[in-house]
Amino acid sequence: MGWLGRTINSSIGKKFIMAFTGISLILFLLFHLAGNLTLYAGKDAFNAYVATLDTVKPIVRIVEVGLALVFLFHIFNGIKLWIENKKARPVNYAVNGSSKNSTFYSRTMIHSGSIILIFLILHLTTFWATFNFTGHPVDGSHEYFDIIIYFFQKWWYALIYFIAMILLGFHLNHGFQSAFQTFGWNHNKYFPMIQKIGSIYAIVVAVGFGSLPVYFYLSSVLGGN
Ligand code: HEM
Repeated sequence: MGWLGRTINSSIGKKFIMAFTGISLILFLLFHLAGNLTLYAGKDAFNAYVATLDTVKPIVRIVEVGLALVFLFHIFNGIKLWIENKKARPVNYAVNGSSKNSTFYSRTMIHSGSIILIFLILHLTTFWATFNFTGHPVDGSHEYFDIIIYFFQKWWYALIYFIAMILLGFHLNHGFQSAFQTFGWNHNKYFPMIQKIGSIYAIVVAVGFGSLPVYFYLSSVLGGN
């Protein structure tokens, strides 16, 4: 194994990969959220936003390939680190693995991450696939706003999104501060501030994304859409 392979496979190498890919995903989520919030401005605003993205499709495709790689690295590395940690600490602590040095959020990263992965597979096989290939499940049209309404009026689909977004909030709450810690930003003076920013970011993302399925499901039940 060359030096690159050794570095990537070392414990600190894996932590750096988690932090770097994690920060990239944190930035992606902000852009994605900003775009999706145009749904609240109505059909024309959202369709116009998607049409704008369509005008730069080749760039979007390149970003998507980058994103796929970033997600894959993040997931595989996360699983590897979790297995390593398990091997290093095979005996659980008396109270179900709890320890003074870890929080509920850090101990459950693998669980929240696994559920977010299941959410992502559902998300890409519905929204991404219909937007880019198959069109509206009923008539194959590329009326983007209507596609969103179609999925979110299903209670189980909206519920899965809502639950996944709460877990995404938990995942980001720990992931944000953990990434900065890996990069060495854990100075006593600034770290509480980083933790606070991380929590605000996690809440904004969870509430921003999570409110959409709730709003559109309730609108469909109450006759708004
Ligand atoms: C209410 C929540 C969400 C809505 C309404 C939503 C909507 C969409 C839509 C419509 C697309 C297709 C865009 C296009 O190809 O033009 C898309 C793509 C995508 N979404 Fe989401 N999304 C949500 C949450 C999330 C979350 C939480 C994640 C990550 C954890 C995520 C990750 C992605 C990825 C990776 C793609 C493919 C890349 C892209 O096209 O931007 N989405 N989403």
